[in-house]
Amino acid sequence: MTDTDTTPVLAAVDLVAGYIPEVDILRGCTGHVGKGELVGVIGPNGAGKSTLIKAMFGLVPVRSGRVMLGEKDITALPAHALVSEGLGYVPQNDNVFPSLTVEENLEMGIYLRPKEFRTRYAAVSDLFPLVSDRRSQKCGSLSGGERQVVAMGRALMTDPTVLFLDEPSAGLSPMMQDTVFESVRTINQSGVSILMVEQNASKCLEIAHRGYVLDQGRNAYEGTGEELLNDPKVIELYLGTLAKI
Ligand SMILES: Nc1ncnc2c1ncn2[C@@H]1O[C@H](COP(=O)(O)OP(=O)(O)OP(=O)(O)O)[C@@H](O)[C@H]1O
Ligand SMILES: [Mg+2]
Repeated sequence: MTDTDTTPVLAAVDLVAGYIPEVDILRGCTGHVGKGELVGVIGPNGAGKSTLIKAMFGLVPVRSGRVMLGEKDITALPAHALVSEGLGYVPQNDNVFPSLTVEENLEMGIYLRPKEFRTRYAAVSDLFPLVSDRRSQKCGSLSGGERQVVAMGRALMTDPTVLFLDEPSAGLSPMMQDTVFESVRTINQSGVSILMVEQNASKCLEIAHRGYVLDQGRNAYEGTGEELLNDPKVIELYLGTLAKI
């Protein structure tokens, strides 16, 4: 495990957010990611996990509460400005361009700073040799796990300090899931702080330093990954139905 520091690099404070007027999906969500931390967010379908990431990343309007990056209030900033501030995001669905090659997908990750492409491509290839081994392959012909690696690689092109991952293991076989979680750990060990939303609650909490359980847009439980994995209430209410080992 990398050295971690629970002083928040990124924090959500009492976030209230939603898509449709007067319907709040997040109803007071609070949490943070410390320096070098890998933080997991679990919870049932529709709990608001993806919405939490989108609200923190400027993709869903925040109605009240704050998003803080260190001492800076970044609540109202749009996603492209947050990328310049050092945040990266890998969405839950459609996170690669299938008709583009692996290399082109990574180019898209840094199209605003093309001069940095070579250096960043080399750095990401060091972490994930797949991106250079398969550089000319169209992403549509990659396996699900390989696509996740490309999607994460693309988000790493801007050299983020904090990365949001939304369900990186979704739709993958158990073996592929293990590989993807290993990749997530590799990214974290390279020094990137991570907030990862996951349906595979058990595996998520196994690799997370800390975790939050979200239910109906609110924090239900929080603790270290180990505490949550062993908490009888969390097991009864969430892990029993969510764990997909
Ligand atoms: N674009 C949207 N417009 C309106 N409502 C939405 C939109 N996206 C999500 N919602 C609603 O917000 C609620 C929370 O959705 P969200 O995607 O955040 O849940 P989740 O915890 O990520 O679920 P899952 O585990 O299924 O991915 C759901 O009731 C969903 O229907
Ligand atoms: Mg989701």
